[in-house]
Amino acid sequence: MEIISSIIEMKKLAAHEEKSGKKIGFIPTMGFLHEGHLSLVDLLRDCSDLLILSIFVNPTQFGVGEDLENYPRNTTRDIELCRERGVDIVFIPQEKDLYLDDSSTFVSEEIASKKLCGLARPTHFRGVTTICAKLFNLCRPSFVALGQKDAQQIVVLKRMIRDMHFPIEVKVGPTIRESDGLAMSSRNQYLNSSQREDALLINRALEAGKSLVVKKGITNADRVKAELMSILRSGRFLRINYAEVVNCETMRVESEIQPGRSMLVVAAWVDSVRLIDNVKL
Ligand code: PAF
Repeated sequence: MEIISSIIEMKKLAAHEEKSGKKIGFIPTMGFLHEGHLSLVDLLRDCSDLLILSIFVNPTQFGVGEDLENYPRNTTRDIELCRERGVDIVFIPQEKDLYLDDSSTFVSEEIASKKLCGLARPTHFRGVTTICAKLFNLCRPSFVALGQKDAQQIVVLKRMIRDMHFPIEVKVGPTIRESDGLAMSSRNQYLNSSQREDALLINRALEAGKSLVVKKGITNADRVKAELMSILRSGRFLRINYAEVVNCETMRVESEIQPGRSMLVVAAWVDSVRLIDNVKL
């Protein structure tokens, strides 16, 4: 396994591999890796001749007052996990190289990014699409793996890839959960034990909502949302940002559930920790 931090070196190597007909698989991450990230390595292994995983805590996707400075980092451990899992290249670029001092260009998706998380975090997705466009240009992937937990990010990035004509196929890995149901996230480590109890309500609410649809055949979105809300409201430290029924492909809010095409999405703060989760119906 190779570790590359120079963007020039990364660009040269990826262009060379691409020219010689190799298929590159790419997993963009902000590090502090967990099984959710590492399962994406498995997802791309068979279709990729070269597997690149990037680690970069991207400042432009954090809003003012968010957790950029405190975002958990452990590069030494991340590198070891990548080695064990069979990553070929860990790309750890530097901020000064990715964002020049007088950098003045952003890539912005203008529809799917404006809803849900985009309302609470108005500059977040612009940061995600901008950094991903930069990383795609440097790493030249044929395949990019993303985790289902970040459902809106998937929709936004798929649209950006399509609209900007990146020759990339997106592969989506399932949400990986802790044994108690909590969706894995680097931010889970901020939670103390009573906050974690509240965080578990998110998955509990989603499962209760899903069971109304699957077991009782309820398709009225308000009815299902009311179930989610009543469970989420029982949390002492939990503040709901949104709990919605949306279309999986567009993230548009729906009033009538279409099994196979709708999903339940939740975002909530547990104290100051913002968590998201979803379940397909
Ligand atoms: O999902 C993430 O960790 C980030 O949003 C991503 C895709 C690595 C871009 O910084």
